[in-house]
Amino acid sequence: MSFTDELKAKTEEISAEISAYLPKEEGFQKIIFEACNYSVINGGKRLRPLMMQCAYMLCSGKKELSNEDKAVIVPFMAAMEMIHSSSLVHDDLPCMDNDVLRRGKQSTWAKFGEDMGTLAGDGLMIYAFETAAKSKAAPELKCRAMEILAQKTGIYGMIGGQTVDVELTGKRPTKEQLEFIYQLKTGALIEGSFMIGAVLAGASPETVSKLEEAADAIGMAYQIEDDILDVTSTEEKLGKPIGSDIANGKVTWLTYYGMDKSEEDVRMYTEKAVDIVGSIGEYPFFTELINYLTDRQS
Ligand code: IPE
Ligand code: IPE
Ligand code: MG
Ligand code: MG
Ligand code: MG
Repeated sequence: MSFTDELKAKTEEISAEISAYLPKEEGFQKIIFEACNYSVINGGKRLRPLMMQCAYMLCSGKKELSNEDKAVIVPFMAAMEMIHSSSLVHDDLPCMDNDVLRRGKQSTWAKFGEDMGTLAGDGLMIYAFETAAKSKAAPELKCRAMEILAQKTGIYGMIGGQTVDVELTGKRPTKEQLEFIYQLKTGALIEGSFMIGAVLAGASPETVSKLEEAADAIGMAYQIEDDILDVTSTEEKLGKPIGSDIANGKVTWLTYYGMDKSEEDVRMYTEKAVDIVGSIGEYPFFTELINYLTDRQS
């Protein structure tokens, strides 16, 4: 099977697995279930759960997941995608990036209103933990994985990064602040995905921290590429508005370093990540996936 076919098959399988954990749309609070499900179901590349699964395969040396493996890891994969989706729901709000298109559809607040958009983001973020708690992992591993999930989501992770991003919108962050923003707003959930996959596979703390470093490099490459696509891509391909950064007066990697150096940095960070992952073990799909992120069109 070609890499592209394998990626498509895995993405579809993950989407179905995540859907199985979404809430039923019933009861007096039905609208929040609808808004949550709308935010998770509509498209999305599912990269973070896929990366978590890759880290699990790499560290366990397994070629396929048994039903027992799935009962351990899928709740965490679903949880990570719920958290990521919740971050997008809040990121699009009028008080943040004020974007009305996401994953090729109306953003959640544009469809359900700002009140429900806010609540759906909150709801998904918390429901993610309820979902992760369903994992059948051994208690110590599950506890460590929950801790990582919380740290990488919260004020020392994605939310911390979004805080500085939002606070400095329209201002001029230093290069150090910009790197900090990228490492947290984008890097943290990727780090969490790698680390949780490794922890649940029983990897050593050394391997977990090597994977954290690899994921940090991917986070940088991923966000710089996202900045590039915001300028060079189209709304049809991206499924979200282009030119959003300029419209919001955001300083991005491009502002400081220009297109050529930004593209070079994407390659540099990607190579770093590939080298680290390669030093841990052999899993060709994983390295192909990391390289694919550099060339992505959406
Ligand atoms: C978008 O993430 C936000 C960034 C961190 C750049 P993705 O590019 O993974 O978005 P989806 O999940 O595929 O929609
Ligand atoms: C990443 O930054 C956002 C999150 C961590 C949610 P962006 O604001 O650039 O993401 P997009 O471009 O809206 O997906
Ligand atoms: Mg943003
Ligand atoms: Mg945005
Ligand atoms: Mg962006």
